[in-house]
This record gives sequence, C-alpha cells and structure tokens, in this order.
Amino acid sequence: MSFVVVLCTAAQSRAQQTAPRPPEFAALTQEEVARILRMSPLPSLPLDPSNRFAEDDAVAELGHALFFETRLSPSGISCATCHDPQRYFTDSEVLARGVGVSRRNAPTVVDSARRRWIGWDGKFDSLWSQALAPIEHPDEMGGHRRTLLQVIRDTPHHRKQFEQAFGPFPEALARSTESGDPLELAHTATADESREIDQTTALVLKAFGAYQRRIQSTRTPLDRFVSALKAQPEGDLEALSASARRGLALFVSRAGCWQCHRGASFTDEEFHALGLVGANGRVPDDPAREAAVAFLKRNPFNVSGEFSDARDSPKAAMVRGLKEGGEQFGQFRTPPLRGVAFTAPYMHDGRFASLSDVVRFYDTLEGASPSGHHGEMVLEPLGLTDPERADLVAFLESLSPDLTILRESPWWRDPRGSSDRTEPTQGSRPQNPRVTSPEVPDQSQR
Ligand code: HEC
Ligand code: HEC
Repeated sequence: MSFVVVLCTAAQSRAQQTAPRPPEFAALTQEEVARILRMSPLPSLPLDPSNRFAEDDAVAELGHALFFETRLSPSGISCATCHDPQRYFTDSEVLARGVGVSRRNAPTVVDSARRRWIGWDGKFDSLWSQALAPIEHPDEMGGHRRTLLQVIRDTPHHRKQFEQAFGPFPEALARSTESGDPLELAHTATADESREIDQTTALVLKAFGAYQRRIQSTRTPLDRFVSALKAQPEGDLEALSASARRGLALFVSRAGCWQCHRGASFTDEEFHALGLVGANGRVPDDPAREAAVAFLKRNPFNVSGEFSDARDSPKAAMVRGLKEGGEQFGQFRTPPLRGVAFTAPYMHDGRFASLSDVVRFYDTLEGASPSGHHGEMVLEPLGLTDPERADLVAFLESLSPDLTILRESPWWRDPRGSSDRTEPTQGSRPQNPRVTSPEVPDQSQR
C-alpha cells in the first residue's frame, strides 16, 4: 500500500515538474504559484447540518416556487426581482430596489451555500435563516411571515408542495378558528399560535435554503487553466489570455489581492474594512460587521437557536463565541470573485460601475478614508501601469462560468414559465444589459 503511495507521489511530483509554466509566471516564487494552484478546483459543496432538508429535492421545489412568488409582498416584489436569474441572480442596480430603496447592493445568490457567513456584513450564519429578512424588510418585500404562510396555505399548488415536503399543514394555522384566521395580521395570536407560526416559518425558510443551495456556478476558464498547470488531461493553458495570465500573476504577488481573496472561492470568509468613505466624502458610516454580530447573536433563527437542526455543532459554538465590539465597525465580508464579471455594480453600496473602477480604487486608494481609524492598513496604493490594470480586469473576467451550461439547469428557470414574469410590476429596471450570452456583459465602461 505505502509503496503505491510513494509511486503516486513520485508520479505527481514528476507531473508537477513537467507541467508547463507560462512565461508570465517566470518571476513568481513557488509560494505564489502554490496560491494559484489552490484556486481550483472548487471543492464539493459544504453540508448544512442546521437545515435537515438541505439535500431534499421536494423541499427545494417549494423554495424554488416561493423564490419567484410575487404575492409574498403587498407590492408584488419577489426574491427574483432583486436576484434575477437572467442577471446572474442580481438586479444590476446600484442599491437594491424593492418596495423602497435598500441601503445595500444586491449580491448574487449563486454559490452562497459556500459562504460561512451570509450577507455583505455576514449578518446570518445560514442560508435559510437569511430568507426571512427580505420578506419582512419594509424596503425590500414589505411582507410578513404570516402572509408567507397564508399564501402557501391558500394556494393549492404551494400547499401541495408544502405537504409533500413537510406533511400536513399545521391544523392550528387553519383558516378559521373560533377567534378568526390566525394568519391575519390583525389577529392577536396566542402564545401557542405564535410558536406554531415561527416553527412553520422555519420550515419554509429551510425550503428557501434548500433551493438556493442548488444555484451553483460551473467551471470557468481559470479552472481549465489551473488543470493545465497540474498537467491534467482536461487542462488548457490557452484558456486564459496572456493578459489574464499577467493579471493572475499580479493578483498572487505584487497587487496583494490574494491576502483576502484566496482559495477556490477567492475569499477568506472574513471581514475587512477597506475604509471606503461614505456619501459626501464622510468617514465610513456603515457599522457593518459590528451591528451584524449584535443582530446575529440575538436572532432566534440562528444556528444555535431553537429552530436550527445543529444546535450543538461547531458552527453553533462559533456563533455563541462571536465577540461583539467596535473594532469590527465598517468591516465587510471579503466577497467571492467567481462570476464577478456578471454582478456589476460593485461593493456593498454598488459605488463602482465596472471592474476597472474597482481595480482603479485598489491602485490609487482614492475614495478610501486616509486615516481609517478602524482600518486595517493592509492596503497601500499599488502604483500599477495602465496595462497592468487591464491585466487584472482580464483575470477577473476569466472567473466567469459558462452561462450556456448554467441556463440548462432547471433551478435557473422561473418555475412559472416565462422569465419575463420575474420583472417587477412597476418601476423601470434595465440599466445593464441582461446576461443573455456567454460573453461577459457590460464592457462598455472600460
Ligand atoms: C429589494 C431587493 C431584494 C429582495 C426582494 C431580496 N433580496 Fe436578497 N439581497 C438584497 C440585498 C440588498 C442583499 C444584501 C444585504 C446585506 O448584506 O446587507 C441581499 C442578500 C441576499 C443573500 C446573501 C448572499 C450572500 O452570498 O451573502 C441571499 C442568500 C439573499 N439575498 C436571498 C434572498 C431571498 C431568498 C429573497 C426572497 C425571500 C431575497 N433575497 C429578496 C436584496 C434583495
Ligand atoms: C484587505 C482585504 C482585501 C484585499 C487585499 C483586496 N480585497 Fe477586494 N474586497 C475586499 C472586501 C472586504 C471587499 C468588499 C468591500 C465593500 O463592499 O465595502 C472587496 C471587494 C472587491 C471586489 C468587488 C466584489 C463585488 O462583488 O462587489 C472586487 C472585484 C475585488 N475586491 C477585487 C480585488 C482585487 C483585484 C484586489 C487586489 C488588487 C483586492 N480585491 C484586494 C477585501 C480585500
């Protein structure tokens, strides 16, 4: 046995020696090349023990239907209004627009099941627990958990899906009891009814979670390139242009991006303050991670709470152990970068219209608070040349999965048929072109 292992290792290291190295990597150290090798492949999807229905397709079907359901909101806003599959599950807006205007940019939900913390500030510790927030937020959907359950109960199609997934709809929430409909907002719920409402809501949230787990990206040009570096048969060194290869070399070396955007998802899953100044040039004014931790620890739907299926898990312990405090002020989660070319505009407040704008920011740090009193001081102006900036952008664009493959997935479709129905009933939307071709959209600003 060990003999075989030795042989394999020898074969492997021989492969690494004979594996081609493009000329753009000539100046890279071994450690810098190792950073590149860690970028691919994407590991298998992490399990979510806090959601015992995570792998259940019947539950995911219910979540799929509800993701596109406009009646969860009195204004006809669905999840898909802001997370439109035609736009890589974003809305192309600077700040998300639902009933009102949100404070933040809508990120994609593609690959969100890979994140340790959910949201720009990591306010949620599971994908499923996040779903209640937009439903009840007055600026997003402006709905209520009772209305959510009412729509399911009173829509035969959803009710059937619910019962296939979870068994009979709770009797305590049936339409007419002596005191009226327990799901009417005007109804004063008894303690028993409230508990039943929250328990049933948690089930439905887990359906949203199960559905969104299935929204996943596919292989990118970078993956084919890294396969070639590992001398694997499906590899292709030409999958990245010379410009993208130079950008990749910069990314793992002098530009320092790898310090936070690392591994196969291009994120350390941690939080950093880049010191982006607020509106009117004020010091950064969004408490971000500081407020998020305070919320998360008290959220009854968190991983250590009564509705979680993994209250004794390491993750639950991690949540209980999170420290609250001001040093986390202004910190945002390092966003993943796979598919980033499809999700303009950028940053938590959508302040940058294009990837070139983002790269220009890192290059000059213009728009960063100079004294960043909570800043981390990792960032320094890079002093790149124009071609180097273009190289970094070319590299970021090589992280785009093949949309033609993704569109084959049933989970990327509006289950009601025509995808036009994901458009909101009022207000105008299109600013960026829809993601309808496998080409990277919106290069107009470069
Ligand atoms: C009005 C637009 C809007 C609607 C409607 C909306 N979202 Fe979002 N979504 C956002 C914004 C904005 C954020 C970022 C919030 C933050 O982090 O502060 C977000 C973040 C998320 C994230 C986090 C992604 C990540 O990787 O961290 C998930 C998941 C998500 N939304 C799912 C949903 C679901 C499920 C629904 C429907 C129940 C929904 N959203 C409805 C705007 C919207
Ligand atoms: C200190 C950690 C850190 C370093 C170093 C870093 N980033 Fe970031 N990056 C972040 C954080 C945090 C955000 C989100 C900031 C926000 O929204 O306010 C971000 C946002 C981005 C975004 C926008 C993603 C989106 O979905 O909106 C891109 C693109 C990006 N970084 C690329 C780079 C590149 C290229 C480099 C190297 C030149 C780099 N980053 C260096 C932490 C870092």
